[in-house]
Amino acid sequence: MIERPRRLRRTPALRRLVAETRLDPAAFILPMFIKEGISDPVEISSMPGVHQHTRESLRKAAHEAVEAGVGGVILFGIPAHKDERGSAADDPNGVMQVALRDLSADLGDSVVLMTDLCLDEYTSHGHCGLLTPSGEVDNDPTLERYASIAVAQAAAGAQVVAPSGMMDGQVAAIRDALDGAGYHNIPIMAYSAKYASALYGPFRDAAECAPQFGDRAAYQQDPANARESLRETALDLAEGADIVMVKPASLYLDVVRQVKDAVEVPVAAYQVSGEYAMIEAAAANGWIDRDRAIMESLVSIRRAGADLTLTYWATEVARRLR
Ligand code: PBG
Repeated sequence: MIERPRRLRRTPALRRLVAETRLDPAAFILPMFIKEGISDPVEISSMPGVHQHTRESLRKAAHEAVEAGVGGVILFGIPAHKDERGSAADDPNGVMQVALRDLSADLGDSVVLMTDLCLDEYTSHGHCGLLTPSGEVDNDPTLERYASIAVAQAAAGAQVVAPSGMMDGQVAAIRDALDGAGYHNIPIMAYSAKYASALYGPFRDAAECAPQFGDRAAYQQDPANARESLRETALDLAEGADIVMVKPASLYLDVVRQVKDAVEVPVAAYQVSGEYAMIEAAAANGWIDRDRAIMESLVSIRRAGADLTLTYWATEVARRLR
């Protein structure tokens, strides 16, 4: 007798019935860019369909995400002025804090309002931390900046903060600072396993944060290493992380799976700008079926073990899933 697994694939209804993996808009997080001092939204050439927002267009796009059922939004701020220590990042009137006050007034608890917590968008040199005189990223003084940024973001209405700088000890420093300021209830979504990836290129156009010299390989992880992600994740959990993240997603699905099997907290995966750009570019050339490729990429991230997915397609796909 021939075994016939094809029986369960015969019709769309059968395939839908037995699908092991389902996508849910409530588990999507939409990354959004807010830029200070522009009067109209600016489309990012390497990320067609994604914009640097004005205050007004951010509010509109966030509203659309909520309407579509997206579970969270994560903000990235692009200040008008950058300096060595990223002063705008924790300025109560800095672009991020202004946007947080807008969105928390507009949206309340209808969506989870998250912030990327880093310095690279705010520093003149584009690195994720303060520099030593010789130009290395200086871990411990950077933690003091992150602590201050966390409190500024929470005070402005952030409901989850997400440190992405890959400094050692960053989660503990941020947890201490939040607790010290009375923000015991603000969770930390840690970019725990963040790789030094070529796939962040389009994001650096969007956030205007390409390093002015060198690269991030001395703080972000080497793509060759998977076990190191388990170490980073365990450290972040010991320091108080509430959600851990793997980034990028598609090229690191093995890491998503290993982290998922190792931890008891929610696991997020970030489908980064380069993953978005590759599919959009190939589709624009007519080389792949855009909609199918997007769905396949998101199902695969979920199948690998991601509970939450950060994706620039969040609103579009949420609508499609309705
Ligand atoms: C750092 C940060 C980066 C991304 C998210 N947070 C850039 C970097 O590490 O260079 C990349 C996200 C993407 O590529 O979509 N603040």
